[in-house]
Amino acid sequence: MQRLLCFFFLLPALVCAQGGMWLPSQLEKLNEKEMKALGCKLDADAIYHANQPSLKDAICQFDGGCTGEMISPEGLLLTNHHCGFDAIQKLSSLQHNYVEDGFWAQSKAEELPAPGVTAMFVRRMEDVTLLALQDVTEGMGEKDRQAQIDKNIVQIRANTKKEKWEETLVRPFYNGNQYFLFVTITYNDLRLVGTPPSSIGKFGADTDNWVWPRHTGDFSMFRIYADKDNHPAPYNTNNVPYKPGHFLPVSLDGIEEGDFTMVYGFPGRTDEYLSAEAVRQTGAVLDPARVSVRDRALKILDSYMRKDPAVKIAYVAKYASIANAWKKWQGEMLGLKTYKAVEKKEAYEAEFTQRINANTDWKFKYANLLPRINQLLREMEPYALARDYYLEACVRNNEILGLVASLNSWIESYDKNGAVGFNTKIQENASRLEEFYKNYRPEVDEAVFAGLLELYAQNANPDWGGTYVKQMVAGRAKPDDFSGFAAYIFKNSVFPNQAKMKALLADKPENLALTLKNDPAYLFYKGLNSAYIDNVQPKLQTLTPSISLLQRQYMAAQMVVFKDKRFFPDANSTLRLTYGPVRGYEPRNAVHYEFQSDLDGVMEKYIPGDYEFDVPKRLIDLWKAKDYGVYATSEGKLPVAFLGANHTTGGNSGSPAIDARGNLVGLNFDRVWEGTMSDLNYDPAICRNIMVDIRYVLFIVDKYAGAGYLLKEMKLVQGQKKHKKKK
Ligand code: ARG
Ligand code: ASP
Repeated sequence: MQRLLCFFFLLPALVCAQGGMWLPSQLEKLNEKEMKALGCKLDADAIYHANQPSLKDAICQFDGGCTGEMISPEGLLLTNHHCGFDAIQKLSSLQHNYVEDGFWAQSKAEELPAPGVTAMFVRRMEDVTLLALQDVTEGMGEKDRQAQIDKNIVQIRANTKKEKWEETLVRPFYNGNQYFLFVTITYNDLRLVGTPPSSIGKFGADTDNWVWPRHTGDFSMFRIYADKDNHPAPYNTNNVPYKPGHFLPVSLDGIEEGDFTMVYGFPGRTDEYLSAEAVRQTGAVLDPARVSVRDRALKILDSYMRKDPAVKIAYVAKYASIANAWKKWQGEMLGLKTYKAVEKKEAYEAEFTQRINANTDWKFKYANLLPRINQLLREMEPYALARDYYLEACVRNNEILGLVASLNSWIESYDKNGAVGFNTKIQENASRLEEFYKNYRPEVDEAVFAGLLELYAQNANPDWGGTYVKQMVAGRAKPDDFSGFAAYIFKNSVFPNQAKMKALLADKPENLALTLKNDPAYLFYKGLNSAYIDNVQPKLQTLTPSISLLQRQYMAAQMVVFKDKRFFPDANSTLRLTYGPVRGYEPRNAVHYEFQSDLDGVMEKYIPGDYEFDVPKRLIDLWKAKDYGVYATSEGKLPVAFLGANHTTGGNSGSPAIDARGNLVGLNFDRVWEGTMSDLNYDPAICRNIMVDIRYVLFIVDKYAGAGYLLKEMKLVQGQKKHKKKK
């Protein structure tokens, strides 16, 4: 539809060329005009200002990987249920099952401290490219270049004026062509204020994940506490609610199709400027391999979780996180193919080549770039595949090998320095180990270990690990008896056994080191890891820097050759703004998706007793009574979620969806299935972000949970959106 609109009404090309995760400090230069054309009523400096309060002061990076926003003058923080989930799970037990039942503090005194959870705000940002690249010369090798930049960054940070409770960081942008400095402030006394039960906060769970229509109330609330000067302080009962520089008013007006929205947050990673060959490899080679490993792991986990509720609690967060990327990669594979991403990139590259061929200077400088990149990528392909297989099967989804890998550093340190520093290292890690075992079940992990090794033995290059695994298995069990081998390892290793591990940790360092070194899981890991280090790593280590160098040059070349195009920097976990209209989409011929879902849709999906689609009785009652209060739409429906053409990615979860006037209208939490490829190939025609409608959040807090007192600290606004003309 959007394409048609652009074509027929000849809207300025600007308005149609959407997408992008823009730097807040550059909005005035690059985006303000377009944003206003799309309906935004705010000036760029109301959104970002280094020295005056602006929207940015309401936005924080939540717990390192998500986004959160301030919604009251008393430090009340809104984020996703899935972002708070780790903390909610850690606070839960079978007696107090907040995952299952939800939780609402009835007063500040009842809020639950969430140790380890952080909220980071950006105070200001600054382009420091010239300083970061000082004394960096064209002919420099990548290693020397990086060393020089690292030195410059140390200098930049040392020279930055900041308060002692603030921090600085410098990050590369545009593949290392530009650098920005950020002054940040991180709070670490956060307390859980409330969460709906999973049957609301995670409604539809993995089946509905990455899919529209969606009916999830994916939100939770925390409160930030600070010392009496409003500065960060570790948890302390004397701390007081944080007073943010800005908090978002919450709009009761709702949204309509075509309304301007913006999403402000911390997108993690995108790769929008890769070559066609790199995109082909991801979609056709790497994604399928990663998916196949996780497929196996998930099936095994599922079989155990269904049998035992205690296992389900222990593994539910791990399962969700494995399943999340697993499903996304499948959507990505499909989207890249369906919407012809490689072909589009090829056409773009043809245009690039044509332009440089018409310019002697460019031709001299850039003609070799793409052929070189593609040649190296093809050389890299088998190694990249081996890396992904190894990481997926032997590190990430393999708990015991992952644990061995992380404790391996103890042993390496012992071998190097003897007992010096050994004890401190162990003490430092003691609580991490405790956490590990809390949600660990050896019998489950044993089955996963066996399944993943089997897959690895079948698929890893025989000379790079496949044969090693088969030999080890045959030596301890029968040929190809992976379960037998797993049984041997799990019976004889201390790693899966918390009690044995604990006793060992209390022993003398030399005994501890000796036992671990002779442990069968450790020995197996060592062999497996050597196969990787000897055969895969060296090639990766030579090819990766060469490819990044070329990619940096290609990025710079694109920005020169396509002067008419605006380039946003790929996401890198720094603060960004994206904007676009509320809009449904048409993924296929004759299929149209509405922009909004409502509570009737929750009831359509309701499966009593199902672990993904059960609905709490109280919500059913409210639905029957149509008791929606001020939260209903003009048609008398209770809105649940809506779609926008905002360019988001992982890390944007929990980001506020803000209307044209700066009010909160939604809470970002996902993307649509057809558009999950947006990290590599954003297409404004079909890529949509999914947001919880803020009215659903308020409804759940107020009517469902009876925690309406929280609304009193918010600033609710209504009636600001008068007589909007229909688009
Ligand atoms: N797909 C969303 C994101 O990438 C939501 C994930 C949480 N939900 C879930 N069912 N696992 O994070
Ligand atoms: N669900 C993602 C997140 O957790 C957002 C996305 O990938 O669209 O950040």
